[in-house]
Amino acid sequence: MAEFTDVLLTHDEIKNAVDGVAYRINQDYVGKDVVVVCILKGAFIFCADLVRSLTIPVTIDFIAASSYGAESTSSGNVKILKDVETDVAHKHVILVEDIVDTGLTLKTLKDFFMQRNPESVSICCLLDKRERRTVDVDVEYCCFPIPDDFVVGYGLDYDNRYRNLKDIMILDPSVYEKKG
Ligand code: PRP
Repeated sequence: MAEFTDVLLTHDEIKNAVDGVAYRINQDYVGKDVVVVCILKGAFIFCADLVRSLTIPVTIDFIAASSYGAESTSSGNVKILKDVETDVAHKHVILVEDIVDTGLTLKTLKDFFMQRNPESVSICCLLDKRERRTVDVDVEYCCFPIPDDFVVGYGLDYDNRYRNLKDIMILDPSVYEKKG
């Protein structure tokens, strides 16, 4: 527990919020051809829970993008490491992300998908650090606005660790300050 200063969100709190967002998506996309795009790696657990609460038919695909290295702040450099295989033309794309920080990753990915002639592209995120935003991006579905703490768990990592924690925890600064 010394690695963490607090529990930010318990698994039960997360589950309730994810079910609430899924309910809204179920209402909004009735009768539409939907492609859910899970943004790897951080969104893998959120997306797995979200899609199991969806009652509308959806196609699920994966894209990998990276903006952080082992550092705790964004480098401002978004790379597409793996693209989707689905043709999204004339379909409704929902980008599923674990956290919106500067907004650079989602802005880049939204622009990237908009070039493929979709019917729509919307964004669904688990966590939103609004005070850190440097670029404008519309987030249609958000489970939790959060303060600017370094959080891990439920898919989110520090240096690829802690993704498997059930709760979302606040990482003690000594963990990443130690690394330098
Ligand atoms: C994290 C997170 C978002 C992005 C948010 O990804 O999953 O994709 O950073 O930051 P931004 O709003 O400042 O762009 P990361 O590159 O750490 O990859 P990961 O999902 O594989 O952990």
